[in-house]
Amino acid sequence: MHAGAFRLPKAELHVHVEGTFEPELIFEIAERNGVQLPFPSVDALRRAYEFTDLQSFLNLYYAAMTVLQTERDFAELAHAYLGRAREQGVVHAEIFFDPQAHTSRGVRFETVIDGLWSAVRDSERLYGISSKLIMCFLRDASAESAMATLEAALPYGERIVAVGLDSAELGHPPSKFRRVFERALAAGWKTVAHAGEEGPPAYVWEALDALRVSRVDHGVRSLEDPQLVARLRDERIPLTVCPLSNVKLRVVDRLEDHPLRRMLESGLVVTVNSDDPAYFGGYVGENFASVAQALDLAPGALALLARNSFEASFIDAPTRAAYLARVDRAEVGA
Ligand code: HPA
Ligand code: ZN
Repeated sequence: MHAGAFRLPKAELHVHVEGTFEPELIFEIAERNGVQLPFPSVDALRRAYEFTDLQSFLNLYYAAMTVLQTERDFAELAHAYLGRAREQGVVHAEIFFDPQAHTSRGVRFETVIDGLWSAVRDSERLYGISSKLIMCFLRDASAESAMATLEAALPYGERIVAVGLDSAELGHPPSKFRRVFERALAAGWKTVAHAGEEGPPAYVWEALDALRVSRVDHGVRSLEDPQLVARLRDERIPLTVCPLSNVKLRVVDRLEDHPLRRMLESGLVVTVNSDDPAYFGGYVGENFASVAQALDLAPGALALLARNSFEASFIDAPTRAAYLARVDRAEVGA
């Protein structure tokens, strides 16, 4: 593998903490909580990781996370991710979580946020990684449910940097959540949204105009609309692209067909991320290394992707400058 791709200091901006739940930990926590999984073994569970589209993945993703019940469970999940991320060159992480996927089955919002926060709060000291939480709303749930979730989160405002939008995209355009995102912006949170993964470029326009997003998650279908590409480029709206995810969920047929290189050549602020690394066959270092090989990216392109990750992140200017200096010092060669 491409060692430079791992060593390069990078920010990970598109990773669902529930998507970092490795089968071994799923089974360990299931046993502790007395939950029976519909798979006889870790290997049998892993063998089920064959997806035909986003929904086929989400079905398994939501089923596995039902074993998460206590504050300790959420803390262990986040610690496990941070430990792995350190091995991938991650020095800053902005981590998605899906509170409604837990509150809808009776877990308290406090349990989720307290558990995750206990890891995020100490991530710099324990892992050398600065980290932040992004609270995602499930777009296939109602706007009312999203608004109730926002209200539950308000007392924890300082622990959350932004709100996002994830889950099944088709049929759930960003504009459905316009009022929720207005409220989030008024509360001082930044906004991001998954758009243009399976959904059309029109959803990316809506994310920009109705949700006033600072970044677009995925956004790979933006290339179908030259005017949209021009806007994203001119406004320097970053896209958090997840190459191995796109292959696993059949957004693209093969990594060699991935539009990432064309996106860079179009002048877009592209970043590379892992999305749900426990399910998609690689963490962020593997995503960097795999696209570098499949698309024959030069070391300079990898360094640009790393620089973009800090430009796109929600960190203050001095922290950003310090991280960019680390990229400049890093050795990028293979
Ligand atoms: N897309 C939408 N929702 C998600 C994803 C994704 O790739 N991963 C986890 N929730
Ligand atoms: Zn995602």
